[in-house]
Amino acid sequence: MARRRMIYEGKAKILYEGPEPDTLIQYFKDDATAFNAQKHAVIEGKGVLNNRLSEHFMSGLNAIGVPTHFIRRLNMREQLVRMVEIIPLEVVVRNFAAGSMAKRLGIDEGTALPRPIIEFYLKDDALGDPLVTEEHVIAFGWASQQDVDDMVALALRVNDFVSGVMYGVGIRLVDFKIEIGRVFEGDFQRLIVADEISPDSCRLWDIETNQKLDKDVFRHDIGSLTDAYTEVATRLGVMPRNGNKVSGPKLVQ
Ligand SMILES: Nc1ncnc2c1ncn2[C@@H]1O[C@H](COP(=O)(O)OP(=O)(O)OP(=O)(O)O)[C@@H](O)[C@H]1O
Ligand SMILES: [Mg+2]
Repeated sequence: MARRRMIYEGKAKILYEGPEPDTLIQYFKDDATAFNAQKHAVIEGKGVLNNRLSEHFMSGLNAIGVPTHFIRRLNMREQLVRMVEIIPLEVVVRNFAAGSMAKRLGIDEGTALPRPIIEFYLKDDALGDPLVTEEHVIAFGWASQQDVDDMVALALRVNDFVSGVMYGVGIRLVDFKIEIGRVFEGDFQRLIVADEISPDSCRLWDIETNQKLDKDVFRHDIGSLTDAYTEVATRLGVMPRNGNKVSGPKLVQ
């Protein structure tokens, strides 16, 4: 196979130049990181699961008219996506209090919020991805007012869709983070959902037992991350229940 040009290697994924203009290949690694990469492990099979799960959510969103970067899955660990200009913000939607918000505001984890709450975090590892307000976003030019309005609308649509899909398999979407990017189409530009939607970027709790089925399992060492992600994938029907080991092929350069 021809050597591909690597564009970027992040903590969880690698981006390669795609086969057509304005496309990228997103390769899902097995690496898991938490607490701004202070904690790191390689969890065999995680990349395969996240590739399938992100495909499931992104293709579902595409099908209901919420634009995403997802074009098609290429193999167990890779998917073809549209290249975007990433807005340097993590857009978080919260339905129940958890994580940093529960801590910061002294709210019990799991408390239902009166409405979905949207937060923006600046994507800056050196600063630890700080929480920022809409005022900061616009004043510092990370995005325009129109972008902010579009990001909020996109985030709420993603929230409704993913909450509904997860509710259907007995899982509560507590919160999630998305990244959004800009694409140019002729004289127009618009924002689309990029990066990934997976248990790495969502909090997912079993509706009956509150068992955690997301990256918190790794953050707080409360069981097997592969088992948790496999449970989500199996309930959604994206992985066979008899689950042959999901290690998948190794990257061939
Ligand atoms: N469609 C896309 N076009 C361009 N860049 C993308 C696209 N989707 C995701 N990205 C970027 O690709 C990278 C994915 O790699 P990964 O998630 O491993 O990064 P990361 O270690 O979390 O670092 P970062 O702080 O850059 O997000 C991220 O930087 C993300 O913003
Ligand atoms: Mg990332």
